Amino acid sequence: MNVHFTVGGLQHGLRVANVTIRRHAYDMSRSLLPEAVERYVAFDITRETAVQKRLRAETARLPEGGMQIGPDQGALLALLARTIGAKHALEIGTFTGYSALAVAMALPADGKLVCCDRSEEWTAIARRYWKEAGVADRIELRLGDARATLRALTAKRGPGSFDFAFIDADKSAYDDYYEACLVLLRPGGLIALDNMLWSGNVAKRAVRDADTRALRALNAKIRDDARVDSCLLTVGDGVMVVRKR
Ligand SMILES: C[S@@+](CC[C@H](N)C(=O)[O-])C[C@H]1O[C@@H](n2cnc3c(N)ncnc32)[C@H](O)[C@@H]1O
Repeated sequence: MNVHFTVGGLQHGLRVANVTIRRHAYDMSRSLLPEAVERYVAFDITRETAVQKRLRAETARLPEGGMQIGPDQGALLALLARTIGAKHALEIGTFTGYSALAVAMALPADGKLVCCDRSEEWTAIARRYWKEAGVADRIELRLGDARATLRALTAKRGPGSFDFAFIDADKSAYDDYYEACLVLLRPGGLIALDNMLWSGNVAKRAVRDADTRALRALNAKIRDDARVDSCLLTVGDGVMVVRKR
């Protein structure tokens, strides 16, 4: 028997006697969809492997678990990476590794994903699940400030050396990450940026905190950027998909 329940925007679950309560473990409070529709999209209609489900459940037990992307967002990233035949991918903001796992599984066996994060503790969880999923050899984790890692990658590997990038770290630095990724991407490559709706706050002129202003300005910059084609998808908290011309 499957029983669903929600606590503070997170869906939890556990196995009690013979009753399986599904642990959806996903912060739906950022989505602009009604909760039932969001649940349908993210859980009923989206495929997840057993390892992905376990990672989601373990992450949900962390106080910061709401930072994890949704299953449908993971499916979107994998679909985009597969669609362009990505072999060299980049991620800025890895946390416990869900998005990286989705992208790594979409790469060919000789593909590589470079992950940037500054937390040893959170990425230790990621490493366990990447190993379990059999994709650890496709992932290179770089610990430290992502700006410094991106500078080092640009110096060492040069422009046009990546096919795909996912940006999901500190919002005030998104523009820096976007510019660095544009250099690192080959023409025809894709960048996906998470949280570009910021719970709808980007559309509310009265909301003027630093993160909201940074994301609002970047949305407008990308719209007017002649170097790219783009579309802001209303998936999860908003995923801006950008194609380098
Ligand atoms: C929203 S979480 C990423 C969620 C992840 N993509 C997922 O699917 O679960 C943001 C991550 O960015 C990392 N981060 C924030 N600022 C950073 C910086 N300046 N350099 C490197 N990592 C950073 C944090 O440590 C955190 O793990």
